[in-house]
Amino acid sequence: MKDILTAPFMKELESMTDNMYRLGWNERNGGNISMLLDEEQISPYIECDKVIRTLPIKVAIPELVGRYFLVTGTGKYFKNISKNPEDALGIIRIVGDGSEAELLWGYQNGGSFTSEIVMHLGAHLERMRSNPKHRVIMHAHPTNTIAMTHVHSLEEKEFSKTLWRMCTECIVIFPEGVSVLPWMVSSHPGIGLASAEKFKDYRILIWALHGCTVAGDTLDEAFGLMETVEKGAEIYMKIQSSGCVTGIDDASLKQVAEAFGLQVREGWL
Ligand code: 13P
Ligand code: ZN
Repeated sequence: MKDILTAPFMKELESMTDNMYRLGWNERNGGNISMLLDEEQISPYIECDKVIRTLPIKVAIPELVGRYFLVTGTGKYFKNISKNPEDALGIIRIVGDGSEAELLWGYQNGGSFTSEIVMHLGAHLERMRSNPKHRVIMHAHPTNTIAMTHVHSLEEKEFSKTLWRMCTECIVIFPEGVSVLPWMVSSHPGIGLASAEKFKDYRILIWALHGCTVAGDTLDEAFGLMETVEKGAEIYMKIQSSGCVTGIDDASLKQVAEAFGLQVREGWL
């Protein structure tokens, strides 16, 4: 068996969590990431029939039985993940009726997967249905995105269009807009299931007064969505106190959409 700490997916996740920590998006244990893995990706590194322990999931997602995920552990500090990945990360396989996971590697000191596991699994399922290349769900607490939810309407079209208006790349990177949920208790199945619903139709979800979750085919793609939303929100937060937040108008957004052949959400422009 090869050393799993040398696996490309492991190295990539470690450098990503370091990067996100340094951006200030993942204070303490804030944020979590899960990556869908194929058995062929992990079998050179771990014996897939050796189960360390079984972990309960609060809801059953039978469609994911047999699927493998690399998931950050609950309570683990992003700043420490790359220093001790075997403590902070786990590789799980969904089993039974879809309400249990077998731990195949990691969570070395008795830990478990993120408390947001219902959102992660539900979001994976919804993205996989529409996109066979889907792999990553990433949740973080980017400061300006959260700040914007304090002062801006949470209506999805209004929130998305303000972001688009802030800098030209926003509509190019997320022409379908962002989804938004009002404040809800975190880490509970309620917010997890409501979030999964949003991923039927969106790759980006903002939780008011909490953070942002994104989906991508790769870690880089997911990260790119999050940083572009955060960039738009940062500009908004910098200028809104000036009282002048007109930004890029609809006619100009339409020009960008035409020039880039974007599939903008129907009826939003
Ligand atoms: P976990 O430590 O359980 O991943 O929770 C962090 C978080 O961001 C909750 O929303
Ligand atoms: Zn969070």
